Amino acid sequence: MTLGAVSRDGWNRFSTWDHSEHLRDLYARRCRKEAEEMTAHAQAAELLALRAGDGDTVLDVGCGSGYFYHSLDSRGLSLEYWGCDASRALLSIGRDILPSFGLPAERLIDVRIEDLSGQVDHVVCINVLSYLDNYQRPLERLLKMARKSVILRESLKHGAEYHYVRDDFLDPGVDLKVHVNHYDMREVTDFVSSYGFKSEIVTDRRSGGRPEMVIGYPHYWTFMVADRVKAA
Ligand SMILES: C[S@@+](CC[C@H](N)C(=O)[O-])C[C@H]1O[C@@H](n2cnc3c(N)ncnc32)[C@H](O)[C@@H]1O
Repeated sequence: MTLGAVSRDGWNRFSTWDHSEHLRDLYARRCRKEAEEMTAHAQAAELLALRAGDGDTVLDVGCGSGYFYHSLDSRGLSLEYWGCDASRALLSIGRDILPSFGLPAERLIDVRIEDLSGQVDHVVCINVLSYLDNYQRPLERLLKMARKSVILRESLKHGAEYHYVRDDFLDPGVDLKVHVNHYDMREVTDFVSSYGFKSEIVTDRRSGGRPEMVIGYPHYWTFMVADRVKAA
């Protein structure tokens, strides 16, 4: 929508997630189960299975096209999966494909973390917060929404680093930057604990705790599993 010289299409224009044909193709193949399951998704599903009961609700924040649904379904976990993401293009891939695998299209919600509210039993957030400008406000939202647990997989290490870098893996001619931040493990642990959660750091199976290059920059992938110990 255009309001004179001002418009509301900033997400579409400036988000790196909406400028990669390669990414859309990969996410579609994951939805169709034509691509291998992500190791991180397998590990997240296993961590979730340890704490989730039948019928619990799970919100996958920054779900891309929602293919984490397959990781739950293929393990026979009878959880109510919801996914949300800010990218309508990525969500529409899941809405087109996942209903034929049993996920109603309405379970994929078009919303930015900043605008999210509500209550679910478990929140899963994989490879999302590291690409935002900071973690506090979005993570607070996730912690406030979760009745039972929050499972994060992000770039965590000792000593934070904040980078805003050009993504050279986008469509030809696209010149956009994205944050690749590494948050301090101790600081995030203390933050999570201040919202009534007991957390545990779990080594990432894919990277084995070693830095992994993604879009040309090191990432320190780490799982943090937080269980609620005090009422919200
Ligand atoms: C690296 S992808 C991860 C997708 C999926 N979680 C996975 O594990 O494959 C990051 C996702 O976060 C979404 N995202 C980025 N900023 C967001 C925001 N502010 N609110 C909601 N989603 C956001 C992007 O659209 C993208 O789908």
